Amino acid sequence: MTVNPAVLNSLPNDLDVLRLPKHVAVIMDGNGRWAQQQGQPRFMGHRRGVDTLKEILRCCKDWGIEALTAYAFSTENWGRPLTEVDFLMTLFERVLRRELKEMIEEGVQIHFVGDLQALPKSLQEEIDRAMVATQHNTKIKFVVATNYGGRREILEACRAIAQKVQRGEFTPADIDEGIFEQHLYTKGISHPDLLIRTSGEMRVSNFLLWQVAYAELYVTHTLWPDFDREAFHKALQDYQQRHRRFGKVK
Ligand code: IPE
Ligand code: IPE
Ligand code: MG
Repeated sequence: MTVNPAVLNSLPNDLDVLRLPKHVAVIMDGNGRWAQQQGQPRFMGHRRGVDTLKEILRCCKDWGIEALTAYAFSTENWGRPLTEVDFLMTLFERVLRRELKEMIEEGVQIHFVGDLQALPKSLQEEIDRAMVATQHNTKIKFVVATNYGGRREILEACRAIAQKVQRGEFTPADIDEGIFEQHLYTKGISHPDLLIRTSGEMRVSNFLLWQVAYAELYVTHTLWPDFDREAFHKALQDYQQRHRRFGKVK
């Protein structure tokens, strides 16, 4: 394995470049509580959360991590007050428009996963534009889960597979993990090795239910807007202490 010298220069020297997760997923939680602690309205936390995400994406890229998936909006988040939902949709659109040029320059390949059809049309247009404009980039895969629900993803896959069986494209006996994964939103994207959740909640909240089967879990009490390079470094140190057995014995 050849390691990019730029990666070795920026990686903290207590991290082993050969044992980094290839794919990190984050449940970016605690924006609202962060804002409340500052005596500010919840949306200020979401705004700050975008800065954190940018920082962590850059950090992943600098340290040679191949993919970052971020949970931006769940299928359940529609149940929040309309003003908050509207704020978030507008924020996603504005951030995409504002950051696209830099993502192209930095070699970021952006993907969106989720039930995207239900998003506002103008946001869908920005998403399409960003995915097309960055599709040949190779420095890092950045996957944004928007209107994402693990259960919905699995159901949609089942429905698509059932239709193919009905059309005679394959038989029920042909359905294996490989075929199933071809029908998930995350088709072609590796499974996360490390799943980080901020704000201390010990749950997965319908995130990547299939894909995290063997991910290492890391929960920190730090709220997402405060999750900086140092906090991420600590998560990676913790990850490097783990023994991933995948059900086997050593
Ligand atoms: C995560 O922060 C961001 C989204 C779910 C969009 P929250 O908004 O859930 O913040 P808390 O959990 O209420 O503090
Ligand atoms: C999970 O956070 C969803 C995102 C980070 C987008 P939530 O704040 O929605 O999760 P719960 O409600 O605490 O489970
Ligand atoms: Mg929350």
